[in-house]
Amino acid sequence: MASLSERADALEHDMAMELERKVAEIQPIRSALYVSGEYDPASPRHDLFDALAAGKRFLMGPDPRIPAMPARPTLQDFFRMRFGNTQHVLQSAKLARDAGHEDKIVLACLLHDISVSGFINGDHGYWAAALVEPYVDEEVSWAIRAHQVLRFFPDPDVGYEYPEAYIKYFGPDFTPEPYVHEAYKLFKAHKYYMTGRLITMNDHYAFDPNVRVELEEFEDLIARNFRQPEEGLGFDHSPSAHMWRTISMPTRAL
Ligand SMILES: [Fe+2]
Ligand SMILES: [Fe+2]
Repeated sequence: MASLSERADALEHDMAMELERKVAEIQPIRSALYVSGEYDPASPRHDLFDALAAGKRFLMGPDPRIPAMPARPTLQDFFRMRFGNTQHVLQSAKLARDAGHEDKIVLACLLHDISVSGFINGDHGYWAAALVEPYVDEEVSWAIRAHQVLRFFPDPDVGYEYPEAYIKYFGPDFTPEPYVHEAYKLFKAHKYYMTGRLITMNDHYAFDPNVRVELEEFEDLIARNFRQPEEGLGFDHSPSAHMWRTISMPTRAL
């Protein structure tokens, strides 16, 4: 008789084989956005034609290589199963809460970089704001949108300086393009400016590898301030439902 651990190993082996088989038959799709640069975006995708010629079909559902989402996924499910490196946003939210800020600010900090950890890097503030807009107070999504641009601009009145990390990331000679300066002017004059600025101030010091913050510490805050759709994120037909579905099924063909 096989021992428990032998049976567990056999099961794991079977599952791995099943996954291999599925991926051999079905071609997951990396969107044009993700292969641009590897491929000239204006050229045809030979990898896809090659896959079809080899008898594969295109994937039209969840990717078997990544964890299966529940039928009605919540924000927390996305945090645990689709977002990488959530410590940065969790630590930012903790900083804001420890500083005594109200729920709106803490939530904005908790969500400000979810696009970087789970969706798209470029213009991540705008994408994150669009993702959460139907489910949060307008001040929260406004601040998330603005934080990306506000990060580049010091505000001596509140003691915010250009991040040292940015000198390391982008080099000492980097200057944002004119459209970023234009956006800054608009954001600076807005009634919610300080909410966006507070994200940047709690963002600044939140890269401590020795601190570990758990999502559970924010369950109450999320329950009070994030309107989880009953149908699950992705299935409520909100203006951002399609974006949550894309995060859930990132390699679906159409
Ligand atoms: Fe950010
Ligand atoms: Fe950040």
